[in-house]
Amino acid sequence: MKYSSILDNHIILITGGTGSFGHQMVKELMVYKPKSIRIFSRDEDKQYLMQDEFKSHPISKKLDFLIGDVRDYDRIYAASKDVDIIFHAAALKQVPAVESHPYEAVKTNIFGAYNVVKASVARKVKNVVAISTDKAVKPVNAMGMTKALQEKIILSDDLTKDSTKFCCVRYGNVLGSRGSVIPLWNSKIDKKQPLPITHKEMTRFLLTLSEAIDLVFYSLKHGKGGEIFVKKAPAAKMTDLALAYAELKTGKKNYPLEFIGIRAGEKIDEILVSEEEMRHSIERKDHFVINKEEKIDRFSAKNVITHEQYGSSNTKHLTIDELKQTMKKLQWTT
Ligand SMILES: NC(=O)c1ccc[n+]([C@@H]2O[C@H](COP(=O)([O-])OP(=O)(O)OC[C@H]3O[C@@H](n4cnc5c(N)ncnc54)[C@H](OP(=O)(O)O)[C@@H]3O)[C@@H](O)[C@H]2O)c1
Repeated sequence: MKYSSILDNHIILITGGTGSFGHQMVKELMVYKPKSIRIFSRDEDKQYLMQDEFKSHPISKKLDFLIGDVRDYDRIYAASKDVDIIFHAAALKQVPAVESHPYEAVKTNIFGAYNVVKASVARKVKNVVAISTDKAVKPVNAMGMTKALQEKIILSDDLTKDSTKFCCVRYGNVLGSRGSVIPLWNSKIDKKQPLPITHKEMTRFLLTLSEAIDLVFYSLKHGKGGEIFVKKAPAAKMTDLALAYAELKTGKKNYPLEFIGIRAGEKIDEILVSEEEMRHSIERKDHFVINKEEKIDRFSAKNVITHEQYGSSNTKHLTIDELKQTMKKLQWTT
């Protein structure tokens, strides 16, 4: 298997393991032979449901459910005992909720990340991959700001990190994930109401959960420590996404849309790699790797690129037909 050498016989801790990312990660790990997988999160109910969901699969014998909060250093330290790999996914990620309660996101996304770093160093964890978002790039909302600082904390050199490799991955919207717009659109379609869109021109990067996990594995394999990995992904206009979704659900083209106005903290377009970051990034076939600024010798490095930012407005946009095909493949509409 593609990533056996880095996953088999390892003890893996997933913070935020009961979320959309954690579920998909466990599914993807089914084909490998991890020694055990620790699912770390706060809510006992979500843990119970996840335990139940996987109980008939052999992987269930390898799952350990740990209740805990990343804000609590002692708990994350205890959870990290003998761990080889941490996937740090626990976060507050909803833009409107974090706009209203920014300090809660400071505690989870920033202090929580610091606790993960400190515990990983203390426990000599081999690899940590933290999940970040396009909203961390030139952030305009509190959620993005806390995730930008999370990246800085994960990648900083202020603790001796000799035995641990720290990397981040960044991606855009995972539309099948918890908190996505799809459930809202479903209820609007059920009531025969127009689909709400904040702005006509809004574009977003789109990624499947499977692609997100593949990016995490890729960073685990190729990371030397200190990089942010970005997968090249298509983007789409939100209007096209809504029209494609409605057409699949109702069979009607040009389903009515309602433009409700941009929300606090929302951008029209998102950026995955800023122009400034491009100066210390390397472009591969399917990825950008953002190195630490000081690690690139700008005058000699062959792969250094100097072109414009990688944003959802200046990348390939999926057409309505392509969006429909993708949704069908992912069974988003069932
Ligand atoms: N979904 C997307 O579109 C998207 C896009 C880009 C990046 N990301 C990033 O991907 C990561 C995973 O996202 P997701 O979609 O899986 O989110 P999710 O479905 O909302 O899951 C979040 C997980 O974090 C846990 N959690 C929240 N606060 C916690 C805390 N203080 N301590 C411990 N666990 C905590 C939650 O469980 P409890 O509430 O029970 O603790 C849950 O297991 C996040 O870091 C997010 O920023 C997501």
